[in-house]
Amino acid sequence: MKQYGTTLKAIETAIAAEADATRAMQIVVRQLKADLPNYTWVGIYLLYGNELVLGPFEGKPSPHTRIPLGRGICGAAAAEKATIIVDDVSADPRYLACSAETKSEIVVPIMDDGTVLGEIDVDSDQPAAFGADDQTLLEQVAARLATRLRELSWPV
Ligand code: SME
Repeated sequence: MKQYGTTLKAIETAIAAEADATRAMQIVVRQLKADLPNYTWVGIYLLYGNELVLGPFEGKPSPHTRIPLGRGICGAAAAEKATIIVDDVSADPRYLACSAETKSEIVVPIMDDGTVLGEIDVDSDQPAAFGADDQTLLEQVAARLATRLRELSWPV
């Protein structure tokens, strides 16, 4: 879809131009939420040891600021090193609720040469909001972010 290409280009430019890696993450979550109406909550978790720690996010504050590897959909995606799309969070026993309005979720690991550095997590108030276009976009954004996260001396 046209919007995805425009969004990816804007994010690539911002990630490359931004001097500070943390600020680059803030720009990414802001741009994704602003451009894509189904993206109700967008956040980046970073992996510290065996725990995912919430970094920059846009949307309502989440109670899940620290998620152990293997817990929740976030922990599952990091442990499996693979994108997970959940069309109906109420039907997934792994789901850790962030907001009562959330209906679907996508979690995309940010990886550097097979090592998980963190992940992009997007929640939607719409059921089955995420498809192949979202996976492709977010995996490309994750790959660009990985190059910047090396600057933060990752992994810790
Ligand atoms: N739903 C996630 C927890 C994070 S909140 O959505 C922000 C999960 O199941 O891992």
